[in-house]
Amino acid sequence: MAFLAGLTPAGLLAGAGLATALQVALLRRRSRAVRELARWLESMAAGERPARLEGLDRELETVLGGPLLRLYRSLRREVRRREEVHRALVELVEGFADPVFVVDRTLRILALSPPAARQFATAPGQSLLAAVRDPGLLAALEAAFRERRSASLDVSLTSRPPRRFSVRVAPLGLAPEGRGALVALREVTEQMTIERMRSDFVANASHELRTPLAAIAAAVETLRGPAANDAAAREEFLALVADEAARMTRLVDDLLALSRIEQSATRPPSEACDLAAVVRRVLARFEPLARRQGVAIETRIAEELPSTLGDADQLEQLVSNLVDNAIKYGRDGRRVIVELDAVAAAPAGTGPVTGRPALRLSVTDFGPGIPAEHLPRLTERFYRVDKGRSRSLGGTGLGLAIVKHVLRRHQGHLTIDSELGRGSTFTVWLASDGGSRRDRHETVTHSP
Ligand SMILES: Nc1ncnc2c1ncn2[C@@H]1O[C@H](COP(=O)(O)OP(=O)(O)OP(=O)(O)O)[C@@H](O)[C@H]1O
Ligand SMILES: [Mg+2]
Repeated sequence: MAFLAGLTPAGLLAGAGLATALQVALLRRRSRAVRELARWLESMAAGERPARLEGLDRELETVLGGPLLRLYRSLRREVRRREEVHRALVELVEGFADPVFVVDRTLRILALSPPAARQFATAPGQSLLAAVRDPGLLAALEAAFRERRSASLDVSLTSRPPRRFSVRVAPLGLAPEGRGALVALREVTEQMTIERMRSDFVANASHELRTPLAAIAAAVETLRGPAANDAAAREEFLALVADEAARMTRLVDDLLALSRIEQSATRPPSEACDLAAVVRRVLARFEPLARRQGVAIETRIAEELPSTLGDADQLEQLVSNLVDNAIKYGRDGRRVIVELDAVAAAPAGTGPVTGRPALRLSVTDFGPGIPAEHLPRLTERFYRVDKGRSRSLGGTGLGLAIVKHVLRRHQGHLTIDSELGRGSTFTVWLASDGGSRRDRHETVTHSP
């Protein structure tokens, strides 16, 4: 019966109280365990490696511990995989030799290639539009985000000098950042300049050929008609035809010379050349012309000059063009001085020859000089200060272009000094130490 004693109302009450206390204790423990669980999950969400789960009762531990740990491990693996993909993407972008950017939806730069960072002075975290400001690029990026569409476009930057790029924009899925885009640029400035020069060249060459052709056609027409029975007029028009034909021959010869020099540009000259002998040969050839024009040529060639690596034929064309110009344009000065000597170290401003032992050849005239604004363009093909005067003197505007290209192949340098009303000095610098430098330099400098 003793056990029935507990069934008395008081006993029942006491029993119920005990059960509630036990339940409360259990609930407390559980809520502590839930708090512990929440803390554990928080630390996992923050990316920390969770410590052992403390304070879980066996039941909870069995039910939750294992699956949670597996969840943690699989999430961790996923995070690592994404980190690796991100690192690979950054490495890939960093390997590009052209400017390449990866941007997010807000155009913030996430990754970029070293040329992109260098040429656009930007870095990850900055806005792409601050670096490449172009409305067309913005529209292409919007299309890439909205419609997941790739696009190609040309972008001109108003930098100095202006630069042109061919740009490719492609959408990128960039979870968790959402959508992003790859922007790859390729500079086409030089290519476009070359294309423009090529088409200018064809236009100029055609024009230069057409002028004498038109004169010949007109003369032939006159010879057939009005001058047919006039012996004096016939002579005059035949002389004109001969002159124009000679001009066309000179032009074609110069064009061919220029093209041959350009074709040889990648093969630096390898044979020793005696520049003094070249200069003497050219002067002997020009002596009769100079005498006819009333121009005295003074020659000052130093003794025992070192040789230079050079193509004698091309150097002869170079010297001829400078002497021809000095006689042609400077004849009013009645004097031309040709000097050749050697220097231990070429002064600053002589391009690839700077600081090297060199030969210095200068051709000075006392003619009208050249206005400063023309100097930078003087060595362009067909460029003439006074078209009419040059043409009347038989010039085609290719002489100094030939000089420039010969010097480019010889890694030499041309400096032009000219004073209006006083005359001009064209000085050629050629290294005499035999070594050649690979870097690209300007072939011409001028000081008015
Ligand atoms: N010594 C000089 N004095 C004054 N002007 C010069 C002198 N040398 C060249 N120039 C100017 O530079 C221009 C270009 O010279 P360049 O030798 O290239 O062509 P060109 O003499 O007109 O023709 P080409 O040499 O093909 O017969 C000339 O037309 C002339 O206006
Ligand atoms: Mg000339």
